Amino acid sequence: MTAHDIEFARPKTRYSQEALDTFAELDRRVDACFERVKSSRPWLFFTDPKTSSQQVIAVVREIFRAVSWYQVHTTEAGFHMFGRLPKHDVQLIRTLCSHKAEEAEHGIWAWEDYRRLGGDPKAVLPSPATFAVSAVWWRMAQIEDPLGYLGAEYLFEQLTALIAPVAMDVFALRGLSGNSGLCFIAEHAVEDQKHATFLKHTILDVVTRYPGSSVAMLRCYEYFEYVYPLPVWDEAYERAVRK
Ligand SMILES: [Fe+2]
Repeated sequence: MTAHDIEFARPKTRYSQEALDTFAELDRRVDACFERVKSSRPWLFFTDPKTSSQQVIAVVREIFRAVSWYQVHTTEAGFHMFGRLPKHDVQLIRTLCSHKAEEAEHGIWAWEDYRRLGGDPKAVLPSPATFAVSAVWWRMAQIEDPLGYLGAEYLFEQLTALIAPVAMDVFALRGLSGNSGLCFIAEHAVEDQKHATFLKHTILDVVTRYPGSSVAMLRCYEYFEYVYPLPVWDEAYERAVRK
């Protein structure tokens, strides 16, 4: 087979090799992160058949509280970050705004489920780990290449898309699926699959059109993964078992 034949046989793609490699690397990193989650204290406690259903709910409740602490800030920082995109790229700004708008009320949903699961309504200052998540997002929003947003956002969406179905299985095994306080996870099990697919195509498109943007995407992914999810969920676990 000649080089010409190989070139001819290669499937046509509208994405650059850099874009394909970048997405594969981000996906590999999220998979590796999921593996680390699966060997973490909160996850082992959550999935252990010896853990009582009351304790499982307590961990989930505290994770919802954590979401309500950081989500409004990560959302506002996200809007700020892609608000700094090149202004000629109206289509990209429009699609990212639309996606982020769908996420906007998730902190409210998390708070409502936290309350349904018996969470204390008293206002408390954010925990250190959730403060760190907000701080990383705001720092990225202010000084990073705005295209880096897509790398960090892919961790948010794809990790939830991987975890939510497994969490739903845990609830089903325990007969908790009908619990109204678990709506947040049920919604995410469906919605974040779509959001992760949207981000996949956006990352492939953006890296193709902006060669070199992969560097900022991978860097922002690293910044965010340093503070999320393990430190946040470990704190939630500590609060749950302390009560
Ligand atoms: Fe989402």
